[in-house]
Amino acid sequence: MSKIVISGTGLYQPPHVVTNAELVEAFNRYADLQNAEHAEAIAAGTRTAMTHSNVEFIEKASGIKQRYVIEKDGVLDPTRMYPRFSERPDEQISLMAEIAVDAAKKALAAAHKKPEDVDAVLCAAANMQRAYPAMAVEIQQALGAGGYGFDMNVACSSATFAIEQAVNAVKSGSANCVLVVNPEITSAHLEWRDRDCHFIFGDVCTAVVIERAETATSADQWEVLGTKLATQFSNNIRNNFGFMNRMEDSDPQGRDKTFMQEGRKVFKEVVPMAAAHIEGHLATLGRTPAEVRRFWLHQANQGMNQFVIKKLVGAESSAEAGSDIAPLILDEYANTASAGSIIAFHEHRGDLQPGDLGVICSFGAGYSVGSVVLRKC
Ligand SMILES: CC(C)(COP(=O)(O)OP(=O)(O)OC[C@H]1O[C@@H](n2cnc3c(N)ncnc32)[C@H](O)[C@@H]1OP(=O)(O)O)[C@@H](O)C(=O)NCCC(=O)NCCS
Repeated sequence: MSKIVISGTGLYQPPHVVTNAELVEAFNRYADLQNAEHAEAIAAGTRTAMTHSNVEFIEKASGIKQRYVIEKDGVLDPTRMYPRFSERPDEQISLMAEIAVDAAKKALAAAHKKPEDVDAVLCAAANMQRAYPAMAVEIQQALGAGGYGFDMNVACSSATFAIEQAVNAVKSGSANCVLVVNPEITSAHLEWRDRDCHFIFGDVCTAVVIERAETATSADQWEVLGTKLATQFSNNIRNNFGFMNRMEDSDPQGRDKTFMQEGRKVFKEVVPMAAAHIEGHLATLGRTPAEVRRFWLHQANQGMNQFVIKKLVGAESSAEAGSDIAPLILDEYANTASAGSIIAFHEHRGDLQPGDLGVICSFGAGYSVGSVVLRKC
């Protein structure tokens, strides 16, 4: 059986940074405006006053220091508190496809591939800009790729789940060269007016090229030793936005139509799931966590990654999230949904040597966990 490799990755980084200080200032101004507007109800005890957010809490609870966003002014406008995007005519490339094409071109250049070498495009992300036509088909056309394209969504695990589909497509011969793109415009699903979560997300897009080793010519190739996916239903991360909202006569501005989570429960339930998943996956390949040179973990919370890494390789005193074994990118990018573990892989693999093992692992809503075990060629 031929070896399947990841032969290139690409990253689109949005143009604007929002620091925690800027974010908190905007939130606190919004809270003050709300409290002034509802002063009577608050005084009468029929409404609870909004509480200020603060930078120290955000950094201690999550490890996030800033995030990149596609549009900043709307997010920081206390009378709006969400990005300002303009509607585009159907003839113009859509925003999601545009950032996907940028990341895809970089991944193809890294893999020494031309767009026409690609015969499958998987657009995998936590949110899709529209119902149809599939984003992947627009991206395929904008690039000049052949074959087929489809969209898939497994929330924060979309990228690893798509990598498994890409590997299987190449293995089965239904495609020769698959492009996986993860355009995560999370600024549009985040509830920037909710103190419990306003700091969590950032925008980005990642891209990965997957092909057989025989066709790969890139200088930086990673053999896929195995992929493993798992899901278990939970309502603890949920967003009820959907195409039936209008028929249900529900409030389009309702709190449940953007990202919601029970952060504590997610933290407690997902950490053991992810650690056991990685350990089980490695065992099926006859490997142990101690043999792994690097873990490119999902980037939602520094503390979560710390627990996962301690469970996996706790005996080694140097095994800290954020150190060499499990690099963090969430301080700079925040939680970028499915793209986080791929950004970590993109930015932190240059020092590994041929034969070194690494694991990409995502975890998030669903719940969903996906792992990809790699060996540097
Ligand atoms: C979201 C998360 C950072 C919150 O951290 P936490 O330590 O669980 O914080 P809690 O929500 O329990 O809140 C702790 C306290 O801080 C307060 N707080 C919440 N947001 C705050 C803010 N922005 N500023 C100041 N205080 C805040 C809360 O009101 C609470 O106060 P209380 O103890 O008086 O009730 C954390 O739970 C997390 O990252 N969970 C996993 C998330 C995840 O991976 N999600 C996947 C998404 S794809």
